[in-house]
Amino acid sequence: MNMLAFAINAVERAPLSDSMTLAGIDYLCRRTRRRLATTPTDVERVFMEDMQRLPVAVHADAANDQHYEVPAEFFKLVLGQRRKYSCCLYPEATTSLDEAEIAALAETVENAGIENGMDILELGCGWGSLSLYLAQRFPGSSITSVSNSISQRVHIEAAAEAMGLRNLTVVTADMNHFSAGRRYDRVLSVEMFEHMSNWEALLGRIRGWLEPDGRLFIHIFTHKDRSYRFDHEDPADWIAHHFFTGGIMPARDLPHRFPDLFHVEQEW
Ligand SMILES: C[S@@+](CC[C@H](N)C(=O)[O-])C[C@H]1O[C@@H](n2cnc3c(N)ncnc32)[C@H](O)[C@@H]1O
Repeated sequence: MNMLAFAINAVERAPLSDSMTLAGIDYLCRRTRRRLATTPTDVERVFMEDMQRLPVAVHADAANDQHYEVPAEFFKLVLGQRRKYSCCLYPEATTSLDEAEIAALAETVENAGIENGMDILELGCGWGSLSLYLAQRFPGSSITSVSNSISQRVHIEAAAEAMGLRNLTVVTADMNHFSAGRRYDRVLSVEMFEHMSNWEALLGRIRGWLEPDGRLFIHIFTHKDRSYRFDHEDPADWIAHHFFTGGIMPARDLPHRFPDLFHVEQEW
């Protein structure tokens, strides 16, 4: 184990002040920036070739241990009322977390062109922020929500019951094996593709789950021009070990690289 990995493991077990934690995060970010600055220029080609060799998702169990099967009660303490486990939108400095969740959900609906009556498939539904919002706002629509977490399904089903919603079905399935078995007007996915290792394989399946005039809406975080995998082989890669095993950082243009499957109509 190298010195940095040793230091990370030591501080993981010790309570630290916020300023020390922030200094540590800053150090690790600068380390990643230095690494990216010195990577060869054909790194994106190699990343794409690697993707084609991998399954749709790797280390799915680790992601569940680190996040998605952590009891929903914990997320009640740290998330907003809608349990949105992805970026929110703050139009004003005074916007609250609960308001920012709704602003982001409304923006997703607008950008995805959702209309009442559509059949909608959400992939990677978390604790149901978007699916419950859609089911409530579009009573004539039917929503199918998928994630690989049983506790997320239990949470969403209880919330739907409490809200009197009958137009929402929640499915527990690993994206490696999920098959929709029918077509939808919209497929939506908010911050799940960063867990997906082989986009071509998944996008190919999604294409078959869309009506001929259907559309796919994807929300991802991105790096401005580099894609990389959080490296589980590197003992000093804190994110790969503690938070995002199997995850990737997509370059901003990554969704454009599958033109045989999807044409990117719009970006925000
Ligand atoms: C970052 S969360 C986003 C949740 C939700 N879209 C939101 O905005 O609150 C990622 C979601 O993808 C799901 N996910 C990750 N890997 C998956 C896999 N291999 N199969 C199915 N779902 C997966 C997780 O269970 C979780 O629901």
